[in-house]
Amino acid sequence: MEFSVKSGNPEKQRVDCVVVGVFENRKLSAAASRLDKASGGFITNLFRRGDLQGKKGQTLILHSVPDTLCARVLIVGCGPETEFNEKTYRDAAAAAAKVLNESGATEAVTYLTDLPLKERDEDGKGRQYAAAAKVLKESGATEAAAHLTDLPVQEHDVVWKVRQCVEATEDALYRFEQLKSRKDKVKRPLKHLIMSVPSKRELPAGEQAVKVGQAIAGGVSLAKDLGNLPGNICTPTYLAGQARALQKHHRKVHVEVLERADMEKLGMGALLSVARGSRQPPKLIVIHYRGAAKDKKPVALVGKGVTFDSGGISIKPGQAMDEMKFDMCGAASVLGALSACATLGLPLNVTGVIPATENLPDGDASKPGDIVTTLSGQTVEILNTDAEGRLILCDALTYTERFEPQAVVDLATLTGACVIALGSHAAGLLGNDAALTDALLDAGRAAGDRAWQLPLWDEYQEQLKSNFADMANIGGREAGTITAACFLSRFTKKFHWAHLDIAGVAWNSGANKGATGRPVALLTQYLLGVAGQD
Ligand code: BES
Ligand code: MN
Ligand code: ZN
Repeated sequence: MEFSVKSGNPEKQRVDCVVVGVFENRKLSAAASRLDKASGGFITNLFRRGDLQGKKGQTLILHSVPDTLCARVLIVGCGPETEFNEKTYRDAAAAAAKVLNESGATEAVTYLTDLPLKERDEDGKGRQYAAAAKVLKESGATEAAAHLTDLPVQEHDVVWKVRQCVEATEDALYRFEQLKSRKDKVKRPLKHLIMSVPSKRELPAGEQAVKVGQAIAGGVSLAKDLGNLPGNICTPTYLAGQARALQKHHRKVHVEVLERADMEKLGMGALLSVARGSRQPPKLIVIHYRGAAKDKKPVALVGKGVTFDSGGISIKPGQAMDEMKFDMCGAASVLGALSACATLGLPLNVTGVIPATENLPDGDASKPGDIVTTLSGQTVEILNTDAEGRLILCDALTYTERFEPQAVVDLATLTGACVIALGSHAAGLLGNDAALTDALLDAGRAAGDRAWQLPLWDEYQEQLKSNFADMANIGGREAGTITAACFLSRFTKKFHWAHLDIAGVAWNSGANKGATGRPVALLTQYLLGVAGQD
């Protein structure tokens, strides 16, 4: 899909469709109001007659509206104006995209990007709060922080709205049909979405926002595709091939793949112990994006790549076990974020590390009680073979030390406990460096791909005690997400590290079953920040 920005009045657009928002209680947006005036009250009439209520998600296509130059007008309901927020904005853009795509219009101009939109501040820690807090901290003032919550909430600028509109549109139109023999093809799909900006002055910033939005949407789509592919296709070898494909497309991307023999030589006993149960060879995929000078320390992204998790000998119950093909969504996010980064040519170095394997119950598989030696030299008693994510990540994290990273972020569909704690709206975040975890929380807020922090206190470490090895790979029923992170923390002492548990956010279950591409947007936003481009 092509995206662009332009400024101009809605009644003057000679296109297939013009998109405008309306609110409940007959409240027209500025663009809807202009169309209404130009057409002699066409839209107010619809309200009066009850065709239009402006409820969230309502859409209405009008043909040949008098005294306009467009073939169609698409009206999108945005709910009560006072409740209009980031989510309703994205939902409105998504609803518009779906209707446009089926409407026969191939080119449309949308004025949703003109709607005034306040930054969401539910946790009382919006971005301006964070910015103000930083300034205050440096100023030495101690008492001002308490009054910060009285600050007026800021409006999102057009850059944010354009970017989110691109991302929401691509997200809404995404289909995974490569494995269906009959594809559900739309006859005349939407090809070009033009987003309105208030004046010519905003055009350059708007164009840059389109670029960023498209790069992120591309990364999200890649992550969705990889997540949605079944385990019999998306194997560790397939993931390695995807990394090599990235290298082919981008000059600054270089890939190395470590094979089982390499891992044996290095002593990656934990990763190898998981791979024992599978006939698919494991891979440790290393992807370097070199966008800055050699001596610039990289940010490392480490992604769990279990291409199918049966639980191993501690086998999972059958219900919804198919969803364990999504257990490589951390790996998919690494590839997605690197793709976005390379597309944007960001001036920084990023190293992706993906331990990839299946977790299956073979006669040679690891058993509960087995003890393995990790690459770090620490020993682990495997009390449950279904806690395999941390076993492959610990060796990948130790391996990452050699790149002397400025920061390491790992992404993993690590614990069912995280789904219970946070549901599917926020990723779990834990780490050993407050500057890093704060930066990730901020990036998630800015990108609309949020995370929520959990404590990583020493008290929880005790749950990993083993009578026979340095540690056990499980910590009991309590605080499962935290004890999993505690396990990883024992392998991340040499660098600034944060862990995102994406078990709840990486895919949807039920009727809309499918990968979400999260947290590619959060990661890319964070990397934009590191590159000084946020
Ligand atoms: N991949 C799973 C985590 C998971 C489960 C994600 C369900 C999303 C939905 C992970 O490998 C796992 O099995 N974790 C165990 C850990 C336990 C044995 C300590 C879990 O969460 O049950
Ligand atoms: Mn598991
Ligand atoms: Zn798993």
